[in-house]
Amino acid sequence: MVRRIVVKFGGALITKKDEQCVAHVEIIRNLCSVVHSISQDGVQVIIVHGAGSFGHLKAKRWRLNEGQIPGFSVMGDSCTSQLEAVEEVRRDMLELNSIIVSELENLGLIVHSHPPHEWARNLGPNFSGTLERFSSTDPGIVHVTFGDVVDVGNERRFGILSGDDIVARLSLELPDIESLIFAMGGVDGLLKVPPNIATDDDLIEEWSPDVEYEGLHRSDIDVTGGIGLKIKRGHSVAQSGIGVYLVNGEYPMRIESLVRNEPWRGTTILP
Ligand code: IPE
Repeated sequence: MVRRIVVKFGGALITKKDEQCVAHVEIIRNLCSVVHSISQDGVQVIIVHGAGSFGHLKAKRWRLNEGQIPGFSVMGDSCTSQLEAVEEVRRDMLELNSIIVSELENLGLIVHSHPPHEWARNLGPNFSGTLERFSSTDPGIVHVTFGDVVDVGNERRFGILSGDDIVARLSLELPDIESLIFAMGGVDGLLKVPPNIATDDDLIEEWSPDVEYEGLHRSDIDVTGGIGLKIKRGHSVAQSGIGVYLVNGEYPMRIESLVRNEPWRGTTILP
């Protein structure tokens, strides 16, 4: 029997969000070690990682999420045009990706990395690009992809494809996916009150659309959808019968427990 899961490593978890291009290597290492244990149990892990400070800061400064803006420029930056910024963000994302890939390889896993700007176009949940490259199901192989700047087939020319849109398509379209897990930074799951005042009792263990939650979306630095997008995409995946969960990625054992059907702490998104 083939068992596969999709795990999103949130950008705020794996990078220092306010310092450009600084990764939380320790957290990445711990997450990868849990991925290794899970794959040893015979479950294939497909990782989609976010951008955090490797993507959002420059993308925001250069308004890459708005597509091409004729004549737009930014004074005193390392690049001189939006197109150069597109290339720089793609390079930065490849750098973050290579940190994750080497941690996995150091554990003896075979990694197939799929940078979206090479295979995906257009934005949102129905972005184009075949998922054929994710077809091998061997648990010793880990597929890795990420939120990226992709080409867009109209006058926008480019845009930001969020990892949250990618996880939804992977979960819904690949065969044998049993769960989708969002590993987040700084929170145990969805909370009833803002994270800075939350206590242990404020965790929402089961979320359905009638339950109110508080999420901090820093639209001042975030070029994608924050927690709202995760919930929206997660809910559409849950409706197809796949288990969808939010966990604190700083305690990656919770991911392992979840996959092993043992007690864990976090939020389940109900269909
Ligand atoms: C964003 O991807 C990609 C870029 C900004 C280039 P995500 O939406 O998946 O990233 P995080 O998890 O919010 O950092």
